[in-house]
Amino acid sequence: MTSWDDLHRRREPAAIAAYRELASHRFLRATLARLFVAGDTVLDIGCGRGEFVLELAGRGVNAVGLDSSPLAVETLRQDLRQSGLDPRRALTGDGRSPPFSGSSLDGIIALGLLEHFADHPAVLARWVELLKPGGRILLQVPNAERWAWFAFDVLARHLLLRRRWVAPRRTPRGLVSRIHGYEERWTASYLAGLCRQAGLEELESYSVYRACAAELGAVACRAWPWLERQATELPARRGLILVYAGRKLTGPRSA
Ligand SMILES: C[S@@+](CC[C@H](N)C(=O)[O-])C[C@H]1O[C@@H](n2cnc3c(N)ncnc32)[C@H](O)[C@@H]1O
Repeated sequence: MTSWDDLHRRREPAAIAAYRELASHRFLRATLARLFVAGDTVLDIGCGRGEFVLELAGRGVNAVGLDSSPLAVETLRQDLRQSGLDPRRALTGDGRSPPFSGSSLDGIIALGLLEHFADHPAVLARWVELLKPGGRILLQVPNAERWAWFAFDVLARHLLLRRRWVAPRRTPRGLVSRIHGYEERWTASYLAGLCRQAGLEELESYSVYRACAAELGAVACRAWPWLERQATELPARRGLILVYAGRKLTGPRSA
């Protein structure tokens, strides 16, 4: 099975650079700017190469990245050093139980990670425990309601790159990928319910087209910004991924 380290190793530098310029990243950066201010302590769980750790750190946020891939963490450490920041802000470890205790964090971001855990309700509850009351969380998961998942994820990423075919399932929402087995569950309403259960109050949610272009390589990445500009104009809930920003409630959970 392909490991996260392998996936990180395979990414071409030009594709990584292009990935960081995606229009959807502007949405995420803007959301981060609304959620966190200088001096906040924010943990990026499953940070990958840490682009958002660097982004936050550049704005004076005390950002720390945690990833299970030693290769990704080492890349982030080098980038931190180059930016004159402490490389100890990059940690290797399991995001299901981050090495923090108490309600000590102002923020958590986890982009493209929660959906990989079968016990995601328990994992999310653990993350929320680490937040101070009123602390903010930013999550990104796949979107089962997006019409484009089939084309971009199933055809492009899995059939062309991995030469593997898994027939999608036909559902009332349309075709849903079954590549990972978790796709069907992740709708905007499922995510909202999960977060409510975990004691979060929604601040904002939307869907965007941020996806597999990085894995398709630099050429596709160059073509992608045009595609993405068209796609981000489409109605909410149609993007490839769902973004949820919430706040830890200080009082009892709402029903
Ligand atoms: C889809 S990538 C997203 C990377 C980054 N957050 C981004 O948005 O570009 C998922 C990341 O989670 C990391 N990861 C997977 N399982 C993990 C775990 N149990 N604990 C911590 N990180 C994990 C992978 O190495 C990978 O960097």
